[in-house]
Amino acid sequence: MSDECHLCLLGLIFLSLLLKGSSGVDETHVFISSGENVRLPCNNALPDCTSTVWFYNSYSAAVELIYLGIKKKDTESHERLSLGSDCSLNIRNISKEDYGYYSCRQYVNGDQKQGTDARVYLHVLHVSSSSSSSSQTEISAGRSVTLFCQLYSYAEVSCDDLMRSERIELFWVNQTGVKLTRSDSRYQILSSSDHCIITLNTTLLNEDHNREWRCEVTHRDQVKSSVTYTVKSSESVRCAIIILIVVIIYSCHNLS
Ligand SMILES: *[C@@H]1O[C@H](CO)[C@@H](O)[C@H](O)[C@H]1NC(C)=O
Ligand SMILES: *[C@@H]1O[C@H](CO)[C@@H](O)[C@H](O)[C@H]1NC(C)=O
Ligand SMILES: *[C@@H]1O[C@H](CO)[C@@H](O)[C@H](O)[C@H]1NC(C)=O
Repeated sequence: MSDECHLCLLGLIFLSLLLKGSSGVDETHVFISSGENVRLPCNNALPDCTSTVWFYNSYSAAVELIYLGIKKKDTESHERLSLGSDCSLNIRNISKEDYGYYSCRQYVNGDQKQGTDARVYLHVLHVSSSSSSSSQTEISAGRSVTLFCQLYSYAEVSCDDLMRSERIELFWVNQTGVKLTRSDSRYQILSSSDHCIITLNTTLLNEDHNREWRCEVTHRDQVKSSVTYTVKSSESVRCAIIILIVVIIYSCHNLS
């Protein structure tokens, strides 16, 4: 009986070693909104980053960003990159094109790979609106407005499958953090099944001045990143101009 148990235990240990060996990659998911700065960790870092290589992969590119601790000068993003003292990769001013996966590899004794590659999936949250506006996160009063909130992700399968398997969710919330739903007649919330995108469509009201709507992305029920839109009514500016004109006309009348 106890011998069988030992055999069982040995089998289990062997199996777990096999499974660990076959997966071979260490994966992290990082979520960020466009325009922000991000730090991608290198989990298998050595004390010395002169053996660090960072690769970038997306649907359209597979490039080396850092080679043996030195930044490559021929990549599109090189001006926004830097290597942290812990061998992490820092990227400034993230754009939606930066999504994809980044791998950190360490070499020892020249060409020997140290441990497994640390793979970081970078998901970029980006919001745009149907109304043109001076600031990216302001909308001026108009009849109706549509806000598109999209998560740019690299997915081996469809974006929809990725969201389901990783338990990633996108939604719109109001100022108090309450999820906007289809049941609220003010809002039309549409989520397309395959593009990791959720749109908010609403008709702006007079009292919407300074109202905020926020798009949030959650990973395993934790909020990872968000983008806030504020409604800026141009009414107040127009009012001020009209009052000014009236005052000028009135003073001109008095003068004559
Ligand atoms: C960030 O990148 C955008 C383009 O993606 C650019 O328009 C903007 O000026 C950049 N901001 C800074 C602070 O470099
Ligand atoms: C947010 O939504 C909830 C539910 O619809 C509502 O009770 C609350 O007043 C809203 N808050 C704001 C600031 O709009
Ligand atoms: C948003 O709603 C308005 C009014 O209900 C409608 O005319 C418009 O087509 C909608 N836009 C989108 C992108 O659904």
